Amino acid sequence: MTGMKYDVIVLGAGAAGLMAAATAGQAGARVLLLDHADKAGKKILISGGGRCNFTNMGVEADCFLSENPHFSKSALARYTQWDFLALVDRYGIDWHEKTLGQLFCDGSARQVVAMLLEECGSGRVEIRLSTEIGEIGHGDGLFRVAGASAEQLVIATGGPSIPKMGASGVAYQIARRFGLTVVPPRPALVPMTLGPDAQAFREISGVSSRVTAEAGGAAFSEAALFTHRGLSGPAILQVSSYWTPGSPIVLRVIENAEEILRDARRRSPRSRLRSVLNDHLPNRLAEVLSARIGLETEMGNSSDKDLERVAADLQHLTFYPTGTEGFAKAEVTAGGISTEALSSRTMEAKTVPGLYAIGEAVDVTGWLGGYNFQWAWSSGWAAGKAV
Ligand code: FDA
Repeated sequence: MTGMKYDVIVLGAGAAGLMAAATAGQAGARVLLLDHADKAGKKILISGGGRCNFTNMGVEADCFLSENPHFSKSALARYTQWDFLALVDRYGIDWHEKTLGQLFCDGSARQVVAMLLEECGSGRVEIRLSTEIGEIGHGDGLFRVAGASAEQLVIATGGPSIPKMGASGVAYQIARRFGLTVVPPRPALVPMTLGPDAQAFREISGVSSRVTAEAGGAAFSEAALFTHRGLSGPAILQVSSYWTPGSPIVLRVIENAEEILRDARRRSPRSRLRSVLNDHLPNRLAEVLSARIGLETEMGNSSDKDLERVAADLQHLTFYPTGTEGFAKAEVTAGGISTEALSSRTMEAKTVPGLYAIGEAVDVTGWLGGYNFQWAWSSGWAAGKAV
């Protein structure tokens, strides 16, 4: 029994699924879009503090993690940040650049969801919410899902980050059922937890400071936030995607530290390290760091060697995280359906004609700052054009 027949069934009415469904529908395909949630685009609605950081002006393939760093290039080049921005402009949605090329709505993320739903409407997409996927049948060139059938099936159910928003690992189950490899998923863009050795830093929970954070060969200069469990803030979220268990996160808390210390020794020889740090760091962080570094003398009495040691400490504040705060707090999931299994142009599975995977379900993970939505738009568009 094949039930209602469509050209394409898209599983997941999130960012990628909405884009794929609208694109396919507007090209003339009969599209069914299914989701178990009671609303489409729930993650879009909560994104960017309710204003949706919908893309980034600096999008390029280097800003994405994947076992195949080249995989994202084709889709990102075919549907760019400027294409999405043109769509946003066409709908008269006002936007602004917040920082580092990150583009946000002036008004509300609801405008982005409304826009995508209208685009689906123009493509006559049928949207069924509060619908479980259940068993997927496949035979005679048809995929059968929830009483419907189609020659083409698009997996757009995202990753397991933030399960309370309806996220699930169903994409991986479907992929495995069709013999596609899954790169082990892990929480990314996620706060880090620290052990008891970092108690002093927990006492300054809530303090934020601009740093350069390094982990796994990547470095980001943004704010870091000390929390009661460990470390968070944009710089930490960024490097968390590159961090591997057992490895350190290194913070450069002051740039040009040695120059600053030598200057302080010359200009104010009676001053102490604490007051020098106070000029460059939040007071409570300066207090914890000066106690930890332990330079007892006045600046004027400190040797070159002392200053070199203090500067090295300030440029290599090293933490060995005990872990991350997990999928419950991770903004995205790294890993996922292996790109080896997919065509980078169309997102179609190489071994299962008619099966596609897009968005966060795939092993392509962007930096913080609008990159993940751009991947959802670009991969969704590529699949939507191909089906
Ligand atoms: P997405 O998760 O959006 O959609 C998947 C859909 O599949 C959902 O509608 C879900 O209900 C459905 N689904 C899941 N399991 C199912 C099942 N078993 N049956 C049926 N349906 C199922 N990125 C960015 O670029 N800028 C930003 O500002 C933010 N901000 C942000 C804030 C927060 C709090 C989070 C958690 C994440 C972000 N992100 C972000 C990341 C961004 O939200 C994410 O990368 C995209 O939503 C991924 O789009 P997808 O369509 O792939 O998955």
